[in-house]
Amino acid sequence: MIEVSALEPLRAAVRQAREAGRSIGFVPTMGALHEGHLSLVRRSRRECGFTAVSIFVNPLQFGPQEDFARYPRRPREDAALLEREGVDLLYAPDAAAFYPRDFSTSLAVAEVSDGGEGAVRPGHFQGVATVVAKLLHQVAPDVAYFGRKDLQQTAVIRRMVRDLDFPVRVALGETVRDPDGLALSSRNAYLSAEERRLAVSLPRALLAARGRAAAGEKGAHALARQTREDLEGAGLAVDYVEVVDAETMRPLDRVEAGAAIAAAVRLGKTRLIDNVLLLEER
Ligand code: PAJ
Repeated sequence: MIEVSALEPLRAAVRQAREAGRSIGFVPTMGALHEGHLSLVRRSRRECGFTAVSIFVNPLQFGPQEDFARYPRRPREDAALLEREGVDLLYAPDAAAFYPRDFSTSLAVAEVSDGGEGAVRPGHFQGVATVVAKLLHQVAPDVAYFGRKDLQQTAVIRRMVRDLDFPVRVALGETVRDPDGLALSSRNAYLSAEERRLAVSLPRALLAARGRAAAGEKGAHALARQTREDLEGAGLAVDYVEVVDAETMRPLDRVEAGAAIAAAVRLGKTRLIDNVLLLEER
C-alpha cells in the first residue's frame, strides 16, 4: 500500500495506475475505521482495479460546538486495517496544505442540504460538499463510494456531482450494523455501556416504522409521529424524525417509492443518526 499525504505523489500514483489500465475506486473517510467503511473498501476492491482511501477529519464540516477536537483518530490502526484489505493507496492529507490559511471557497448544495441534519447542523453539508469536491478533484476516481448510513450526505453528493458534471460515478453501500441493529459509527465509541444499551432503540423504532409501512400505513406524518413516540418512550432525546424522499430529501406526505425514514437522537453528549428505506427506489 502506498501512503501519501501530499497532492503531487497522490496524482503520480493515480496516474500510474491509470496508465496501467486500472479503473480507480475511491472511498473518502474520516478514519477510526470500522466494518461500515471496510464494506465500501471491499466493494471498491471488487469493482475497480485500484482502490484509494482517504482519511481526513475535515474541520469544515464540524460546528464550533461539535466534536472535532475529540473525534477519534487512530492513524496506525487504520493503516494496518487498510493494508490487510489490500488497499492500493492511502491518502491522509496534511491539514495545513489541504486548507491553506487563505482558503476561501465553499460549496453550498441548496434544497438537499436544508432539512434534517442541515437544519440542526448549519454549515455542515457545505463543509462536506467542499471537502468531497476537493478530494474528487485531487484523486479523480472513476467510482466514489458512500454509505447510505449518511442518507442526506449521499443526496448532497449525488446532487453536487450531477449539477457540476463531475466525471465520476457515485456508488452507495448499504448500512452495516452491529448484531443488535445499531448502525456502526465512529461516534459509537463515545457511548457509555448504559447509552449503548439504549441506542438500540433507534434502529428498532425505524424498523418498526418500516413494518407499519409494509402493513399498509402510508401516512408519512403518522409514521413519523409514532416513531418519535417510540424513541422518546425509550428515553432518547429526539432531534428530528422525518419521512423523506431518499434522493431529494424532500419531506413526503405519503409513503411512496424511494421513501426513507430518517432520525437523529441524542444520548448524553452523543448524537446518533440512522435511516431505513421504507419502499425501494424506482
Ligand atoms: P465517515 O463518517 O468516516 O464515513 C465515511 C464513509 O463511510 C461515508 O460514506 C459513510 O456513509 C460510510 N459509513 C459510515 N458508517 C457506515 C455504516 N455503518 N455502514 C456503511 N457505510 C458507513 O462520512 C464521512 O466520513 C465524511 O463526511 C466524508 C464523506 C469523508 C467527508 O469528510
